[in-house]
Amino acid sequence: MPRNLLGIRHLAQDDINELISLAADFKLRIIEGKAVPELSKEVVGMLFFENSTRTRVSFEQAAHYLRMKTANFSAGSSSMSKGETLKDTILTLRYERLNGLVMRHRMSGSTALAARYFGGPVLNAGDGQHEHPTQALGDALTVLERKGQIKDLTVAIVGDVEHSRVARSNAWLFSKLGAEVRFVGPRTLIPAHPQLLPGEVYHDLRNGIEGADVIICLRLQKERMAQGLLSSISEYASMYQVNRETLRWANRECLVMHPGPLNRGIEVDDVAADGDHSVITTQIENGIFVRMASLYWVFTSEAKPSSPPELKVKTAKAKTPAKAKRTAAGAKKK
Ligand code: NCD
Repeated sequence: MPRNLLGIRHLAQDDINELISLAADFKLRIIEGKAVPELSKEVVGMLFFENSTRTRVSFEQAAHYLRMKTANFSAGSSSMSKGETLKDTILTLRYERLNGLVMRHRMSGSTALAARYFGGPVLNAGDGQHEHPTQALGDALTVLERKGQIKDLTVAIVGDVEHSRVARSNAWLFSKLGAEVRFVGPRTLIPAHPQLLPGEVYHDLRNGIEGADVIICLRLQKERMAQGLLSSISEYASMYQVNRETLRWANRECLVMHPGPLNRGIEVDDVAADGDHSVITTQIENGIFVRMASLYWVFTSEAKPSSPPELKVKTAKAKTPAKAKRTAAGAKKK
């Protein structure tokens, strides 16, 4: 079986440690101008069915540093706009002989489906509201660099938890690494069954971020929201914005994180986004190194992609009776 990176929930502790250590090592090498491994034979498809700036560019940069080639694909100009199913699109890319896929799609579980039909390796760049593993790995690296450890930290994930794949991947990752995870938000934006996720729920911002070492701010994912979940954006901001005043409730040394894109004035103000607590730009930079680590990790595993079935051309020629006889006779002689 090829190695995929589909989510954090089912990732073993050793794999998490390996990915983060690899990312830190690649970062050091790139900064010091040292050589990094080359995967120049691999062609990876970049399938972004949903918009992306950071994730897409950092996967491109990561592939570039590893000397990989990328095949770009945009949903609007593909045959999916002519009615092709996701399964047929993935199968097409497999027979185009791409060696791996980086994929983002609005449907939760879509990257697992792609892995099934493509044969792998597939890297999840965000599937619906399910998981965004490379974002979480980059966030963990960022916290480790600043705090030296994750164990025993308090990590508050604030905002639209319900629709956020970043919230889920980060909750799994930080809790696996020994942090206390809190979900903070209004009832309508907290998952209906929070007991299925590793964290405590808080509906009050002050209680939720009191003593927090890390605050992960989330954007309101309006594109995934049913109507009527919020009475008004300004009311939401007045209750849940992380800003100059509300930040005082957290730990003095607390880190402010945000996966981007930011909606300034809603989930964060400028002080939270750009002030001394903010590590948002480091998150962006570390995104490159964890994606290098992730590409390297899936492509260098012992498990190789299952190759497409053999072409039938030779078999068709062998169907002529004379040749078939000769082959059969030859086979007997041996
Ligand atoms: C996030 C995403 O797409 O899930 N962004 C990202 O990948 N950096 C968060 C968001 O869109 O709000």
